[in-house]
Amino acid sequence: MTETGVELIDRTEAVARLPEFPDLLAVALTAQTRARAPYSNFRVGAAVLGGSGAVYPGCNVESASYGATICAERSAIVGAVAAGETVIRACVVVTPTAVPSSPCGICRQLLREFGTDLLVFAASSLGDGVYFATVGDLLPLSFGPANLDAAGSPRVSSGALE
Ligand code: THU
Repeated sequence: MTETGVELIDRTEAVARLPEFPDLLAVALTAQTRARAPYSNFRVGAAVLGGSGAVYPGCNVESASYGATICAERSAIVGAVAAGETVIRACVVVTPTAVPSSPCGICRQLLREFGTDLLVFAASSLGDGVYFATVGDLLPLSFGPANLDAAGSPRVSSGALE
């Protein structure tokens, strides 16, 4: 156990937590090789598990403007939603750091859109260690859809055209 609710486990233990972990890891490692990171040279791969059981890849895509850069995790979420997923169960992110790097704040917020129970695995392309946490662990007291409901704002279904 490291920070509250965050555990450092290995890949074997990760499979115990999520049987699909090897599939997500393989997709994330391939996506990492496709990252466009000419400015930071920090290549990140991700994979998310949709409610249908399908796995979607993501990688960071950097922009010369810097600010238009998108992280690997959000790129994977966008792909999953564009493919029709409304539920995301888990995310695996892979960084080229001996100790895994966990998702940035913006990615945590977008992951949180799909629930605080969403499982997050931060793995390394250089080692066996994996940080494991739920989004709720990574983003305590988070702002989410229920906050809008509490304010009485009209919110229509999932936001997608049915
Ligand atoms: N990056 C990600 O893809 N995911 C994260 O959670 C942290 C950062 C990317 C963004 C940028 O292209 C590079 O890593 C350096 O910050």
